[in-house]
Amino acid sequence: MPSTTSFPSSKSFLKILTISLLCSICLSKTHIDITDHLSNGSIPLTLRCQSKDDDLGYHKLYPNQPSYTWSFVPSFISKTLFFCHFWFNGKDAVFDVFNQENWGADYCDRYSHSFPWKHISSTCYYQVRDDGFYMSKTNDPWGSGSWSKKHSWGDH
Ligand SMILES: *[C@@H]1O[C@H](CO)[C@@H](O)[C@H](O)[C@H]1NC(C)=O
Repeated sequence: MPSTTSFPSSKSFLKILTISLLCSICLSKTHIDITDHLSNGSIPLTLRCQSKDDDLGYHKLYPNQPSYTWSFVPSFISKTLFFCHFWFNGKDAVFDVFNQENWGADYCDRYSHSFPWKHISSTCYYQVRDDGFYMSKTNDPWGSGSWSKKHSWGDH
């Protein structure tokens, strides 16, 4: 059977390119990564993270332990939201660690400097420190510029 091939017009080629680029992002998982950087390691940081549908339960974290992580595929329909409650040494705080409606699904996405279309990672990193909660899109513990304070103890 003879086959006929037709070249797609540049318009439909762009459409295909856009859809495949969008879908490489829309299907990718977002990770949350929380570490305890508190100076007093004799008492644990307790945290409980939840979304509308999921309760991830209570967890204890100590300094120099592996981070507490989970991942999800952001939902464009229901707008994924995760919030966490933190307790430490008589203090506490509650805030959103991922809020797709307010921030967008790509809030923690990183792209290559040399190839801006190249997706590197989608992780929201949090460090819990004595003076509050810091966030970064990279996991460089010494990258002084990348961590910024987002919340304080007592925030609700
Ligand atoms: C750590 O916190 C506990 C409980 O508040 C306290 O008894 C202890 O002295 C603290 N340790 C340091 C090194 O600050």
